[in-house]
Amino acid sequence: MKIADPPPSRANLRIKVLLLENIHRSAVEALDHTGFVVEHRREALKEDDLVRALAGVQLLGIRSKTRVTERVLAEAKDLLSVGCFCIGTNQVTLDAAKVRGVPVFNAPFSNTRSVAELVVAEMIALARQLGDRSREVHAGVFKKTADGCHEIRKKTLGIVGYGHIGQQLGVLAEALGMRVVFYDIAPRLSMGNSRPLPSLAALLAEADFVSLHVPETPETKGMIGESEIAKMRPGSYLINLSRGTVVVIPALAAAIRGGHIAGAAVDVYPEEPEGKSDTFRTELQGLPNVLLTPHVGGSTEEAQEMIGREVAHTLSTFTTTGATRGAVNFPEVELPPYKGAHRILNVHKNVPGVLRDVNKIIADLNAYIVGQVLATDSNIGYLVMDVAKDVSIEVRDAISKLDTNIKTRILF
Ligand SMILES: NC(=O)c1ccc[n+]([C@@H]2O[C@H](COP(=O)([O-])OP(=O)(O)OC[C@H]3O[C@@H](n4cnc5c(N)ncnc54)[C@H](O)[C@@H]3O)[C@@H](O)[C@H]2O)c1
Repeated sequence: MKIADPPPSRANLRIKVLLLENIHRSAVEALDHTGFVVEHRREALKEDDLVRALAGVQLLGIRSKTRVTERVLAEAKDLLSVGCFCIGTNQVTLDAAKVRGVPVFNAPFSNTRSVAELVVAEMIALARQLGDRSREVHAGVFKKTADGCHEIRKKTLGIVGYGHIGQQLGVLAEALGMRVVFYDIAPRLSMGNSRPLPSLAALLAEADFVSLHVPETPETKGMIGESEIAKMRPGSYLINLSRGTVVVIPALAAAIRGGHIAGAAVDVYPEEPEGKSDTFRTELQGLPNVLLTPHVGGSTEEAQEMIGREVAHTLSTFTTTGATRGAVNFPEVELPPYKGAHRILNVHKNVPGVLRDVNKIIADLNAYIVGQVLATDSNIGYLVMDVAKDVSIEVRDAISKLDTNIKTRILF
Protein backbone atom coordinates (compact mmCIF):
# COMPACT_ATOMS: atom_id res chain seq x y z
CA MET A 1 0.00 0.00 0.00
CA LYS A 2 1.38 3.42 -0.94
CA ILE A 3 2.13 5.82 1.87
CA ALA A 4 0.79 9.22 0.91
CA ASP A 5 1.84 12.73 1.89
CA PRO A 6 -0.21 14.31 4.69
CA PRO A 7 -3.69 15.11 3.38
CA PRO A 8 -4.52 18.46 1.76
CA SER A 9 -5.35 21.09 4.30
CA ARG A 10 -8.79 22.15 3.07
CA ALA A 11 -10.37 20.78 6.27
CA ASN A 12 -7.78 22.72 8.24
CA LEU A 13 -9.48 25.99 7.36
CA ARG A 14 -12.03 25.17 10.04
CA ILE A 15 -9.39 24.70 12.75
CA LYS A 16 -9.20 27.68 15.09
CA VAL A 17 -6.04 28.25 17.11
CA LEU A 18 -5.70 30.57 20.09
CA LEU A 19 -2.10 31.51 20.94
CA LEU A 20 -1.60 33.35 24.24
CA GLU A 21 1.39 34.93 26.03
CA ASN A 22 3.01 36.45 22.96
CA ILE A 23 4.21 33.17 21.48
CA HIS A 24 6.91 33.69 18.83
CA ARG A 25 5.70 34.73 15.35
CA SER A 26 7.35 31.60 13.93
CA ALA A 27 4.41 29.63 15.38
CA VAL A 28 1.84 31.95 13.83
CA GLU A 29 3.52 31.66 10.44
CA ALA A 30 3.71 27.85 10.61
CA LEU A 31 0.10 27.37 11.74
CA ASP A 32 -1.13 29.95 9.25
CA HIS A 33 0.71 28.11 6.50
CA THR A 34 -1.04 24.88 7.46
CA GLY A 35 -4.36 26.62 6.81
CA PHE A 36 -5.44 27.14 10.42
CA VAL A 37 -7.17 30.31 11.58
CA VAL A 38 -4.83 31.79 14.19
CA GLU A 39 -5.59 34.36 16.88
CA HIS A 40 -2.39 35.66 18.50
CA ARG A 41 -2.65 37.49 21.84
CA ARG A 42 0.09 39.01 23.98
CA GLU A 43 -1.42 38.32 27.39
CA ALA A 44 -2.08 35.26 29.56
CA LEU A 45 -5.76 34.71 30.44
CA LYS A 46 -7.31 34.02 33.84
CA GLU A 47 -9.65 31.04 34.20
CA ASP A 48 -12.99 32.76 33.43
CA ASP A 49 -11.57 34.65 30.46
CA LEU A 50 -9.89 31.53 29.16
CA VAL A 51 -13.13 29.53 29.33
CA ARG A 52 -14.88 32.24 27.30
CA ALA A 53 -12.02 32.58 24.82
CA LEU A 54 -11.90 28.83 24.14
CA ALA A 55 -15.44 28.58 22.74
CA GLY A 56 -15.01 27.23 19.21
CA VAL A 57 -11.22 26.87 19.57
CA GLN A 58 -9.60 23.52 18.71
CA LEU A 59 -5.95 24.26 19.49
CA LEU A 60 -4.62 26.29 22.41
CA GLY A 61 -1.03 27.54 22.64
CA ILE A 62 0.31 28.83 25.96
CA ARG A 63 3.59 29.47 27.75
CA SER A 64 4.07 29.20 31.52
CA LYS A 65 1.57 31.76 32.87
CA THR A 66 -1.77 30.43 31.62
CA ARG A 67 -3.28 27.78 33.89
CA VAL A 68 -5.29 25.18 32.02
CA THR A 69 -7.33 23.82 34.91
CA GLU A 70 -9.80 20.95 35.16
CA ARG A 71 -12.67 23.44 34.82
CA VAL A 72 -11.18 25.00 31.69
CA LEU A 73 -10.79 21.55 30.15
CA ALA A 74 -14.30 20.49 31.16
CA GLU A 75 -15.82 23.56 29.51
CA ALA A 76 -13.64 23.65 26.39
CA LYS A 77 -15.78 21.24 24.39
CA ASP A 78 -14.08 21.95 21.07
CA LEU A 79 -10.50 21.66 22.33
CA LEU A 80 -8.41 19.00 20.56
CA SER A 81 -4.95 19.71 21.92
CA VAL A 82 -2.82 22.08 24.03
CA GLY A 83 0.66 23.16 22.98
CA CYS A 84 2.98 24.45 25.71
CA PHE A 85 5.44 26.69 23.86
CA CYS A 86 8.02 26.14 26.60
CA ILE A 87 9.64 23.27 28.48
CA GLY A 88 7.45 22.86 31.58
CA THR A 89 3.89 21.54 31.49
CA ASN A 90 2.89 21.91 35.17
CA GLN A 91 0.55 24.75 34.23
CA VAL A 92 -1.79 22.23 32.59
CA THR A 93 -3.78 19.68 34.62
CA LEU A 94 -2.37 16.87 32.53
CA ASP A 95 -4.51 13.98 33.79
CA ALA A 96 -7.72 15.97 33.34
CA ALA A 97 -6.64 16.72 29.77
CA LYS A 98 -5.83 13.08 29.12
CA VAL A 99 -9.13 11.65 30.29
CA ARG A 100 -10.89 14.12 27.99
CA GLY A 101 -8.79 12.93 25.06
CA VAL A 102 -6.69 16.12 24.85
CA PRO A 103 -2.97 15.49 24.28
CA VAL A 104 -0.55 18.12 25.57
CA PHE A 105 2.72 18.85 23.78
CA ASN A 106 5.83 20.86 24.68
CA ALA A 107 9.27 21.52 23.20
CA PRO A 108 11.81 20.04 25.59
CA PHE A 109 14.86 20.17 23.31
CA SER A 110 14.54 23.38 21.27
CA ASN A 111 16.87 25.31 23.55
CA THR A 112 19.66 22.71 23.63
CA ARG A 113 22.14 24.83 21.72
CA SER A 114 21.45 27.91 23.86
CA VAL A 115 22.29 26.00 27.04
CA ALA A 116 25.42 24.45 25.53
CA GLU A 117 26.67 27.88 24.39
CA LEU A 118 26.15 29.38 27.83
CA VAL A 119 28.22 26.59 29.40
CA VAL A 120 31.05 27.35 26.97
CA ALA A 121 30.89 31.04 27.88
CA GLU A 122 30.87 30.18 31.57
CA MET A 123 33.85 27.84 31.36
CA ILE A 124 35.94 30.65 29.88
CA ALA A 125 34.49 33.19 32.29
CA LEU A 126 35.30 30.99 35.31
CA ALA A 127 38.80 30.16 34.06
CA ARG A 128 39.49 33.91 33.74
CA GLN A 129 37.57 34.99 36.88
CA LEU A 130 35.60 37.27 34.60
CA GLY A 131 32.68 37.87 36.94
CA ASP A 132 34.97 39.14 39.70
CA ARG A 133 37.10 41.33 37.39
CA SER A 134 34.02 42.90 35.85
CA ARG A 135 32.46 43.59 39.25
CA GLU A 136 35.73 45.17 40.46
CA VAL A 137 36.05 47.53 37.50
CA HIS A 138 32.39 48.52 37.86
CA ALA A 139 33.29 49.43 41.45
CA GLY A 140 36.35 51.45 40.34
CA VAL A 141 38.95 48.76 41.23
CA PHE A 142 41.54 48.12 38.51
CA LYS A 143 43.07 44.78 39.61
CA LYS A 144 45.20 43.54 36.71
CA THR A 145 46.23 39.97 37.54
CA ALA A 146 46.98 36.61 35.95
CA ASP A 147 46.90 34.67 39.24
CA GLY A 148 44.62 31.65 39.03
CA CYS A 149 43.60 32.57 35.47
CA HIS A 150 43.84 29.94 32.73
CA GLU A 151 43.06 29.05 29.14
CA ILE A 152 40.53 26.27 28.70
CA ARG A 153 42.53 24.70 25.86
CA LYS A 154 43.76 21.18 26.79
CA LYS A 155 41.69 21.19 29.99
CA THR A 156 39.32 18.31 30.63
CA LEU A 157 35.57 18.84 30.58
CA GLY A 158 33.57 16.18 32.41
CA ILE A 159 29.94 16.02 31.25
CA VAL A 160 27.49 14.30 33.60
CA GLY A 161 24.41 13.31 31.57
CA TYR A 162 25.35 12.91 27.89
CA GLY A 163 21.93 13.64 26.37
CA HIS A 164 20.85 16.44 24.04
CA ILE A 165 22.70 19.23 25.83
CA GLY A 166 25.66 17.16 27.01
CA GLN A 167 26.44 15.95 23.49
CA GLN A 168 26.20 19.44 21.92
CA LEU A 169 28.40 20.82 24.65
CA GLY A 170 31.00 18.11 24.07
CA VAL A 171 31.22 18.98 20.37
CA LEU A 172 31.63 22.71 21.08
CA ALA A 173 34.22 22.08 23.81
CA GLU A 174 36.35 19.89 21.53
CA ALA A 175 36.32 22.65 18.92
CA LEU A 176 37.94 24.85 21.58
CA GLY A 177 40.69 22.30 22.15
CA MET A 178 39.33 20.72 25.32
CA ARG A 179 39.43 17.04 26.19
CA VAL A 180 35.94 15.71 26.81
CA VAL A 181 34.90 12.83 29.06
CA PHE A 182 31.35 11.92 30.01
CA TYR A 183 29.34 9.75 32.35
CA ASP A 184 25.77 8.63 31.67
CA ILE A 185 23.64 5.85 33.15
CA ALA A 186 22.47 4.90 29.65
CA PRO A 187 24.82 3.69 26.90
CA ARG A 188 25.57 6.71 24.69
CA LEU A 189 27.48 6.93 21.44
CA SER A 190 30.52 9.23 21.78
CA MET A 191 30.49 12.34 19.61
CA GLY A 192 33.87 13.36 18.19
CA ASN A 193 36.70 12.17 20.44
CA SER A 194 34.78 12.30 23.71
CA ARG A 195 35.40 9.38 26.05
CA PRO A 196 32.82 7.60 28.22
CA LEU A 197 33.84 6.90 31.81
CA PRO A 198 32.46 4.03 33.88
CA SER A 199 31.41 6.03 36.94
CA LEU A 200 30.69 9.47 38.30
CA ALA A 201 33.68 9.07 40.66
CA ALA A 202 36.01 8.43 37.69
CA LEU A 203 34.74 11.59 35.99
CA LEU A 204 35.08 13.74 39.11
CA ALA A 205 38.69 12.57 39.54
CA GLU A 206 39.62 13.50 35.97
CA ALA A 207 37.73 16.69 35.07
CA ASP A 208 38.91 20.28 35.40
CA PHE A 209 35.34 21.41 34.65
CA VAL A 210 32.36 19.32 35.75
CA SER A 211 29.16 20.27 33.92
CA LEU A 212 25.85 18.69 34.94
CA HIS A 213 23.20 17.85 32.34
CA VAL A 214 20.99 15.26 34.01
CA PRO A 215 17.21 15.38 34.50
CA GLU A 216 15.60 15.67 37.92
CA THR A 217 15.01 12.13 39.15
CA PRO A 218 15.20 10.44 42.57
CA GLU A 219 18.75 9.32 41.62
CA THR A 220 19.98 12.78 40.62
CA LYS A 221 18.58 14.55 43.69
CA GLY A 222 21.60 15.62 45.75
CA MET A 223 23.83 13.77 43.28
CA ILE A 224 26.64 16.29 43.86
CA GLY A 225 27.04 16.65 47.61
CA GLU A 226 29.93 16.93 50.05
CA SER A 227 31.57 13.57 49.25
CA GLU A 228 31.31 14.04 45.46
CA ILE A 229 32.73 17.55 45.66
CA ALA A 230 35.61 16.17 47.76
CA LYS A 231 36.35 13.77 44.86
CA MET A 232 36.69 16.67 42.39
CA ARG A 233 40.20 17.81 41.52
CA PRO A 234 41.54 20.67 43.67
CA GLY A 235 41.05 23.92 41.75
CA SER A 236 38.37 22.51 39.46
CA TYR A 237 35.07 24.19 38.57
CA LEU A 238 31.44 23.07 38.88
CA ILE A 239 28.74 24.15 36.44
CA ASN A 240 25.06 23.40 36.96
CA LEU A 241 22.55 24.45 34.32
CA SER A 242 20.44 21.30 34.76
CA ARG A 243 18.10 21.17 37.76
CA GLY A 244 18.44 22.92 41.10
CA THR A 245 18.08 19.82 43.25
CA VAL A 246 21.09 18.04 41.69
CA VAL A 247 23.67 20.02 43.72
CA VAL A 248 23.72 20.36 47.51
CA ILE A 249 24.24 24.13 47.67
CA PRO A 250 25.69 24.34 51.23
CA ALA A 251 28.32 21.72 50.28
CA LEU A 252 29.28 23.68 47.16
CA ALA A 253 29.41 26.96 49.09
CA ALA A 254 31.68 25.38 51.72
CA ALA A 255 34.03 23.97 49.05
CA ILE A 256 34.33 27.40 47.41
CA ARG A 257 34.96 29.15 50.72
CA GLY A 258 37.58 26.51 51.57
CA GLY A 259 39.26 26.92 48.15
CA HIS A 260 38.92 23.29 47.01
CA ILE A 261 36.64 24.43 44.17
CA ALA A 262 38.00 27.38 42.16
CA GLY A 263 34.64 28.60 40.96
CA ALA A 264 31.12 27.68 39.97
CA ALA A 265 28.38 28.70 37.55
CA VAL A 266 24.84 28.05 38.72
CA ASP A 267 21.67 28.77 36.75
CA VAL A 268 19.15 26.61 38.63
CA TYR A 269 18.30 26.41 42.33
CA PRO A 270 16.44 24.01 44.64
CA GLU A 271 13.77 26.68 45.09
CA GLU A 272 13.18 29.36 42.50
CA PRO A 273 10.79 32.31 42.67
CA GLU A 274 7.72 31.95 40.41
CA GLY A 275 8.04 35.33 38.74
CA LYS A 276 10.55 38.19 38.74
CA SER A 277 11.95 38.64 42.25
CA ASP A 278 14.32 41.07 43.92
CA THR A 279 14.48 39.13 47.17
CA PHE A 280 16.02 35.88 45.90
CA ARG A 281 18.52 34.41 48.35
CA THR A 282 21.14 31.64 47.98
CA GLU A 283 24.19 30.80 50.06
CA LEU A 284 26.30 31.23 46.92
CA GLN A 285 25.74 35.00 46.77
CA GLY A 286 28.88 37.04 47.35
CA LEU A 287 31.31 34.11 46.99
CA PRO A 288 34.42 34.63 44.79
CA ASN A 289 34.35 33.46 41.18
CA VAL A 290 30.75 32.31 41.31
CA LEU A 291 28.51 33.15 38.37
CA LEU A 292 24.82 33.16 39.25
CA THR A 293 22.11 33.43 36.62
CA PRO A 294 18.30 33.30 37.00
CA HIS A 295 17.47 30.08 35.08
CA VAL A 296 18.22 31.63 31.71
CA GLY A 297 20.27 28.75 30.26
CA GLY A 298 17.81 28.18 27.45
CA SER A 299 16.48 31.72 27.18
CA THR A 300 17.40 33.14 23.79
CA GLU A 301 15.37 34.55 20.93
CA GLU A 302 16.65 31.73 18.72
CA ALA A 303 15.34 29.15 21.19
CA GLN A 304 11.96 30.92 21.30
CA GLU A 305 11.80 30.85 17.51
CA MET A 306 12.66 27.13 17.46
CA ILE A 307 10.08 26.40 20.15
CA GLY A 308 7.46 28.27 18.11
CA ARG A 309 8.22 26.24 15.01
CA GLU A 310 8.53 22.91 16.80
CA VAL A 311 5.30 23.07 18.82
CA ALA A 312 3.39 24.48 15.84
CA HIS A 313 4.62 21.53 13.78
CA THR A 314 3.62 19.03 16.48
CA LEU A 315 0.14 20.57 16.78
CA SER A 316 -0.46 20.59 13.04
CA THR A 317 0.85 17.03 12.66
CA PHE A 318 -1.47 15.87 15.43
CA THR A 319 -4.41 17.70 13.89
CA THR A 320 -3.83 16.38 10.38
CA THR A 321 -2.61 12.81 11.12
CA GLY A 322 -3.50 12.09 14.76
CA ALA A 323 0.18 11.50 15.67
CA THR A 324 0.89 11.98 19.38
CA ARG A 325 4.65 11.48 19.33
CA GLY A 326 6.17 13.66 22.07
CA ALA A 327 2.88 14.17 23.96
CA VAL A 328 3.52 14.46 27.70
CA ASN A 329 0.22 12.98 28.90
CA PHE A 330 -0.86 10.60 26.17
CA PRO A 331 0.01 7.22 24.66
CA GLU A 332 2.29 7.84 21.69
CA VAL A 333 0.97 6.75 18.29
CA GLU A 334 2.14 7.51 14.77
CA LEU A 335 0.67 5.94 11.63
CA PRO A 336 1.63 7.08 8.11
CA PRO A 337 -1.47 8.19 6.19
CA TYR A 338 -2.77 5.80 3.51
CA LYS A 339 -4.18 7.00 0.20
CA GLY A 340 -7.81 6.17 -0.43
CA ALA A 341 -8.78 5.68 3.22
CA HIS A 342 -10.38 7.73 5.95
CA ARG A 343 -8.65 8.01 9.30
CA ILE A 344 -10.60 7.57 12.52
CA LEU A 345 -9.14 8.62 15.87
CA ASN A 346 -10.64 7.07 18.98
CA VAL A 347 -9.72 7.78 22.59
CA HIS A 348 -11.33 5.30 24.97
CA LYS A 349 -11.28 4.09 28.56
CA ASN A 350 -8.66 1.40 28.84
CA VAL A 351 -10.73 -1.66 29.76
CA PRO A 352 -10.42 -5.14 28.26
CA GLY A 353 -12.26 -5.81 25.01
CA VAL A 354 -12.35 -2.34 23.38
CA LEU A 355 -10.39 -3.39 20.30
CA ARG A 356 -12.61 -6.46 19.93
CA ASP A 357 -15.73 -4.22 20.01
CA VAL A 358 -14.24 -1.78 17.48
CA ASN A 359 -13.16 -4.53 15.10
CA LYS A 360 -16.58 -6.19 15.36
CA ILE A 361 -18.20 -2.92 14.24
CA ILE A 362 -16.00 -2.94 11.16
CA ALA A 363 -16.52 -6.65 10.47
CA ASP A 364 -20.30 -6.22 10.77
CA LEU A 365 -20.10 -3.50 8.11
CA ASN A 366 -18.20 -5.92 5.88
CA ALA A 367 -15.38 -3.38 5.67
CA TYR A 368 -11.56 -3.61 5.83
CA ILE A 369 -9.11 -1.95 8.16
CA VAL A 370 -6.16 -0.74 6.08
CA GLY A 371 -4.08 0.48 9.00
CA GLN A 372 -4.52 0.32 12.76
CA VAL A 373 -2.33 1.30 15.72
CA LEU A 374 -3.32 1.19 19.37
CA ALA A 375 -1.33 2.46 22.34
CA THR A 376 -2.53 2.49 25.93
CA ASP A 377 -1.60 3.62 29.40
CA SER A 378 -3.28 2.69 32.66
CA ASN A 379 -6.26 5.02 32.03
CA ILE A 380 -6.86 5.41 28.32
CA GLY A 381 -6.33 3.78 24.97
CA TYR A 382 -5.64 5.73 21.78
CA LEU A 383 -6.56 4.06 18.52
CA VAL A 384 -5.67 5.40 15.08
CA MET A 385 -7.30 3.49 12.27
CA ASP A 386 -7.65 3.84 8.50
CA VAL A 387 -10.84 2.43 6.96
CA ALA A 388 -12.56 2.60 3.58
CA LYS A 389 -14.12 6.01 2.85
CA ASP A 390 -17.62 4.70 2.21
CA VAL A 391 -18.02 3.29 5.74
CA SER A 392 -16.04 5.79 7.79
CA ILE A 393 -19.01 7.83 9.03
CA GLU A 394 -20.93 4.72 10.09
CA VAL A 395 -17.83 3.37 11.84
CA ARG A 396 -17.28 6.64 13.67
CA ASP A 397 -20.91 6.85 14.78
CA ALA A 398 -20.93 3.25 16.03
CA ILE A 399 -17.65 3.63 17.94
CA SER A 400 -18.88 6.90 19.48
CA LYS A 401 -21.79 4.97 20.98
CA LEU A 402 -19.59 2.44 22.82
CA ASP A 403 -19.63 2.86 26.64
CA THR A 404 -15.85 3.05 26.58
CA ASN A 405 -15.75 5.98 24.15
CA ILE A 406 -14.12 9.25 25.24
CA LYS A 407 -13.58 11.00 21.92
CA THR A 408 -13.90 9.83 18.33
CA ARG A 409 -13.47 11.81 15.14
CA ILE A 410 -12.75 11.37 11.45
CA LEU A 411 -9.70 13.15 10.12
CA PHE A 412 -9.89 12.78 6.37
N1 LIG B 1 18.96 25.96 32.55
C1 LIG B 1 18.03 25.88 31.63
O1 LIG B 1 17.44 26.87 31.24
C2 LIG B 1 17.73 24.53 31.01
C3 LIG B 1 17.28 24.48 29.69
C4 LIG B 1 17.06 23.24 29.10
C5 LIG B 1 17.25 22.09 29.85
N2 LIG B 1 17.65 22.17 31.14
C6 LIG B 1 17.87 20.95 31.93
O2 LIG B 1 19.06 20.32 31.47
C7 LIG B 1 19.00 18.94 31.76
C8 LIG B 1 19.46 18.12 30.57
O3 LIG B 1 18.62 18.37 29.48
P1 LIG B 1 18.73 17.50 28.13
O4 LIG B 1 17.80 18.11 27.16
O5 LIG B 1 20.13 17.32 27.74
O6 LIG B 1 18.13 16.11 28.65
P2 LIG B 1 18.27 14.68 27.98
O7 LIG B 1 17.13 13.90 28.50
O8 LIG B 1 18.50 14.77 26.53
O9 LIG B 1 19.64 14.11 28.64
C9 LIG B 1 19.75 13.75 29.99
C10 LIG B 1 20.81 12.66 30.09
O10 LIG B 1 21.06 12.40 31.46
C11 LIG B 1 21.23 11.00 31.63
N3 LIG B 1 21.00 10.63 33.02
C12 LIG B 1 19.83 10.46 33.67
N4 LIG B 1 20.05 10.14 34.96
C13 LIG B 1 21.40 10.09 35.12
C14 LIG B 1 22.25 9.80 36.22
N5 LIG B 1 21.75 9.50 37.43
N6 LIG B 1 23.57 9.83 36.02
C15 LIG B 1 24.10 10.12 34.78
N7 LIG B 1 23.35 10.40 33.70
C16 LIG B 1 22.02 10.39 33.87
C17 LIG B 1 20.21 10.41 30.65
O11 LIG B 1 20.49 9.06 30.36
C18 LIG B 1 20.37 11.34 29.46
O12 LIG B 1 21.36 10.88 28.56
C19 LIG B 1 17.57 18.66 32.23
O13 LIG B 1 17.56 18.59 33.63
C20 LIG B 1 16.82 19.88 31.77
O14 LIG B 1 15.71 20.15 32.61
C21 LIG B 1 17.91 23.37 31.74
